[in-house]
Amino acid sequence: MSTPSSSIESVLVENRVFEPSAATVASARISGMPAYEALCAEAAKDPQAFWARLARENLGWHKPFTQVLDDSQKPFYKWFADGQINASWNCLDRHIGTPVENKTAIVFEADDGAVTRVTYKELLARVSQFANTLKAMGVQQGDRVVIYMPMTIEGVVAMQACARIGATHSVVFGGFSAKALQERIQDAGAVAVITANYQMRGGKELPLKAIVDEGIAMGGCESIKKVIVFQRTPTACNMVAGRDVLWHEAIAGQSTECAPTFVGAEHPLFVLYTSGSTGKPKGVQHSTGGYLLWARLTMLWTFDLKPEDVFWCTADIGWITGHTYVAYGPLAAGATQVVFEGVPTYPNAGRFWQMIEKHKVTIFYTAPTAIRSLIKAAEGDEKVHPKNWNLDSLRLLGSVGEPINPEAWMWYHRHVGHERCPIVDTFWQTETGGHMITPLPGATPLVPGSCTLPLPGIEAAIVDEQGNDVPNGSGGILVVKKPWPSMIRTIWGDPERFKKSYFPEELKGYYLAGDGAVRSADRGYFRITGRIDDVLNVSGHRMGTMEIESALVAKTDLVAEAAVVGRPDDLTGEAIVAFVVLKRARPTGDEAKALAKELRDWVGKEIGPIAKPKDIRFGDNLPKTRSGKIMRRLLRAIAKGEAITQDVSTLENPAILEQLAQNN
Ligand code: WT7
Repeated sequence: MSTPSSSIESVLVENRVFEPSAATVASARISGMPAYEALCAEAAKDPQAFWARLARENLGWHKPFTQVLDDSQKPFYKWFADGQINASWNCLDRHIGTPVENKTAIVFEADDGAVTRVTYKELLARVSQFANTLKAMGVQQGDRVVIYMPMTIEGVVAMQACARIGATHSVVFGGFSAKALQERIQDAGAVAVITANYQMRGGKELPLKAIVDEGIAMGGCESIKKVIVFQRTPTACNMVAGRDVLWHEAIAGQSTECAPTFVGAEHPLFVLYTSGSTGKPKGVQHSTGGYLLWARLTMLWTFDLKPEDVFWCTADIGWITGHTYVAYGPLAAGATQVVFEGVPTYPNAGRFWQMIEKHKVTIFYTAPTAIRSLIKAAEGDEKVHPKNWNLDSLRLLGSVGEPINPEAWMWYHRHVGHERCPIVDTFWQTETGGHMITPLPGATPLVPGSCTLPLPGIEAAIVDEQGNDVPNGSGGILVVKKPWPSMIRTIWGDPERFKKSYFPEELKGYYLAGDGAVRSADRGYFRITGRIDDVLNVSGHRMGTMEIESALVAKTDLVAEAAVVGRPDDLTGEAIVAFVVLKRARPTGDEAKALAKELRDWVGKEIGPIAKPKDIRFGDNLPKTRSGKIMRRLLRAIAKGEAITQDVSTLENPAILEQLAQNN
């Protein structure tokens, strides 16, 4: 083992390798590299037989499928299409009559530390009761239901109840603004919103229902017939007569038994909005059968889940990670999981470590941005260093959402995993439904900063702009060459955009992930180098640059033009930098500061706090070509504080560069 001399070098040449221990290999479901390779070979030889076998072994089918893949309308692939299934049955009912029925399904820890537990049997009763409530309100199979809730058992119940009656849920993260919520309600044509009066974050009570009211009042939400309000805190909230009903009042008297509605495997289980390279978020539509297969299987493969495990994924249900690895995967696999409402830094930055100790967590899955902020906190204050807690229960660590830098990886490995726990660096996306490229704990030798190799059946590759394979060691475009069951089915209401975004003609029909990647020369391991489109990754949250630009120019009294780029950031991975031309003279000094704050708050209102630019710079103009195209690569260099060494000969107004570089 050699220690690289600098962080830059460590990213480029990472030669530390961590082999799985003999004991881990021996006990693993996929035991050793030969077992992994055998599965890959099985998938390559006859993909349909491979996926059919897994779908039969892993899911309970109400009516068995006879067809595996239907590619007659590619890229609108269908999987197991004539099979009938229910996701909630597969997460709950299937465990009844087995030892899992009395096992704890969810250990819920609230922001203030209060703990609530539910068993599988109890969860089934709660989901069924809420499913009956939805039905009684007129929610039908195929209807869309928006869920705008904090992390709660009820949030999971709401998702599962929709699945149970064949309604398609669309969860909107509780940090999104009224405007963002309204756009999603409207795009999805939702018939109901399930929300809470307030949410608790870091000891603060923050409104949710008031934001729902504000969003609906913006118009275009006439499809909404009902708003169900879970009372998270005792504080009263506004209730609209005839439309709004309190959760606990609505469920009263409803039966705790509800026969699941079996749907075709392709039935949309959910639509989840994510950012793309245009101003409008895309509603990523997922299936029921294919999605659920991968949610369960990756729990068994990537996390090598054992009956006695206590699994904790820290993601919010508002993101895909919270769908696949909180609301569906752990339940479909019969796991005991921790669900957490609060934030990693409250009451102090030892919260995660304290919770791991308290709940004897064995598998811990979080984001690099959280790890980096906890490293910083631990380095600044001994008292919140993980060494203060007993983390012996841990056996496996995971990372998700953005590239993990080798330094953070090593710290996680040493101070959380005590050099004993493998780290699975899982690369995937909202669109992929579940893990794509990831180590397997009992097989794959680990290299810090690399997501290593694709899961069996996933034909990931790196190609050039014509779709030709590039050799290991050269960077290129990450694609997936063959369809897989949990892939995105379409963009809700916009099949053309789906085709254009993910299956561009130049790429031979491959799925375009939108990331750049490189494979190591020696092992062929993948390392993700970041997005190649106009999408930013800020603290593991996906943001479209155009989305933020649209929000800025929507402030029509002030803003004439805006361009948004990303800048590398030690803590958040990337930071948002906005270059803004105002409709008045370029401000400087205190005026610039005040206007920057005004614009930041405006973006927070338009999209949500996560979209607020870290840095706003004002210019008389933006660097443009003679044909009027904004030269973003120059803006990226300026944002990084780099000297402009690039060709500026096509630039209409070179003097602007200096102004933007100086302006702060
Ligand atoms: C984008 C997808 C994966 C679920 C949460 C985020 C980046 C994700 C990794 C990783 C490097 C990663 C990619 C991807 N990303 N995981 N392990 N290593 N980059 O889902 O919001 O759809 O974002 O996150 O850039 O395209 P998402």
